[in-house]
Amino acid sequence: LNSEKTVDKRLLNICELLEKHIAHYNWVGFYFRNGNKEELKLGPYVGAPTDHTIIPFGKGICGQVAVSNQNFVVPDVAAQDNYIACSITVKAEIVIPIFVNGENIGQIDIDSNTPDPFTEADERFLEFVCAQVAAIL
Ligand code: SME
Repeated sequence: LNSEKTVDKRLLNICELLEKHIAHYNWVGFYFRNGNKEELKLGPYVGAPTDHTIIPFGKGICGQVAVSNQNFVVPDVAAQDNYIACSITVKAEIVIPIFVNGENIGQIDIDSNTPDPFTEADERFLEFVCAQVAAIL
């Protein structure tokens, strides 16, 4: 097994690369299930610090993905009522679950300061990234 430190370093690297090279990715981070609790815990991320280091299942976009096991693309965060705001600059969000042996163990969460920036190409690309992440955990 890879040590937690090595994994976190690699995950941070992925966040840095995505934020640096993709103009509409402005906050990039990972949330993982917190042990056996019905909550997510913030992992490595790049962007403005967030107060939301723990998110209960079902709450916000991230918490909904923990329950639905589905990609969640939000073109306009202002139009969502179950949304947790981390920064007023954020206009859109995409969350893609990470599966290990078919189990939803976490997610990649990306915020954009650009309205409606995410396409199916982002979904396919981030599904690929999540599959790579699953393989290094
Ligand atoms: N907006 C997320 C919370 C996490 S921040 O984007 C970093 C949500 O609604 O779940």
